[in-house]
Amino acid sequence: MIISSTTDFREAARRRLPPFLFHYADGGAYAEQTLRRNVSDLSELALRQRVLKNVADISLSTSVLGQDLAMPVAIAPVGLAGMYARRGEVQAARAAEAAGIPFTLSTVSVCSIEEVQNALTKPIWFQLYVLKDRGFMKNALERAWAAGITTLVFTVDMPVPGARYRDAHSGMSGPFGPQRRIWQAMLHPRWAFDVGLFGKPHDLGNISAYRGKPTNLEDYIGWLGANFDPAIAWKDLQWIRDFWKGKIVIKGILDPEDAREAVKFGADGLIVSNHGGRQLDGVLSSTRALPHVVEAVKGELAILADSGVRSGLDVVRMLALGADAVLLGRAYVYALAAGGQAGVDKLLDLIAKEMRVAMALTGVTKISQITAETLERI
Ligand code: FNR
Ligand code: LAC
Repeated sequence: MIISSTTDFREAARRRLPPFLFHYADGGAYAEQTLRRNVSDLSELALRQRVLKNVADISLSTSVLGQDLAMPVAIAPVGLAGMYARRGEVQAARAAEAAGIPFTLSTVSVCSIEEVQNALTKPIWFQLYVLKDRGFMKNALERAWAAGITTLVFTVDMPVPGARYRDAHSGMSGPFGPQRRIWQAMLHPRWAFDVGLFGKPHDLGNISAYRGKPTNLEDYIGWLGANFDPAIAWKDLQWIRDFWKGKIVIKGILDPEDAREAVKFGADGLIVSNHGGRQLDGVLSSTRALPHVVEAVKGELAILADSGVRSGLDVVRMLALGADAVLLGRAYVYALAAGGQAGVDKLLDLIAKEMRVAMALTGVTKISQITAETLERI
């Protein structure tokens, strides 16, 4: 099929994937109100068209968290990404490296830190969750550092997993899950050969490496609920700030008061995010939360944002609201499922092209020139 946008990648992913995997990525929490608003609130921000500004020479390059990036975009951490294409995290990380942007590896990835980092020349970012087993956290930080990783993304918006109705219906969780997943795989032979058969081992690479035995993926959602730690507060995290010598970016901030806490904690950056509408349905979209966070802490640490970004135009909108860089979640999962590394290459190329067009038609040539003035005041 012809692919010219994230919408096309999503459709290609829907055709290729067994439904339990498509809906795990595509879905959100409860009635999916926040998921929808992430997309609609962002797309409703009107860009301000300007003309005759000599926009022949546009540069997307920028610097965030002490790193030079080819564009102000990073790949968001996504659990089980390695199930969307064969050794999927390695393929997506290669595409990100080729495009000159960071790839963030989830705690609950299929490929381990070492498998992904050894396939690359530049350091990836590593995302850590608060697991009940603190030994795991320390071990993961040590392994990430030993692999050459210096940017830690610390996710704080999942003390408990939100209820996702689609997972219960799709066979991702719920009765007869394993049988239904095998049946769905048989009906999607391209995925079954590429990932089901030749993409093994299917487990949580980072957890297995620590425990010294494969992690059972039969009840992944149940595993998240059982192993993530709800008994965690800022003061319990101080050891991480002391232990980790690199940058720390706190992911999952929506509230300006929490943003101030992140500054007090000594974070180098934060990510305004509602986890792509996968946690508490009914919370603000990132588009609506971001300006308040920017007002509270701009200039004190790097401000990144995600949730709802589907195009280069959306990236420009988030930057206009005050973000220094933007992360892509589902957009890259769809591209990875649709075409592996080549799919993600193509997505990142599309995003860059769309950003250039948006910049040209709003009359700016540098990332630093994208400001509140880039949007209409309506
Ligand atoms: C996620 N997200 C996520 N975040 C995180 O910190 N660790 C993780 O393991 C995961 N896992 C995960 C799985 C899947 C399938 C999705 C779609 C998302 C959240 C992710 O990093 C990001 O915040 C959202 O995806 C952003 O929203 P969009 O871009 O998908 O709208
Ligand atoms: C999710 C977790 C793994 O959103 O972050 O599914």
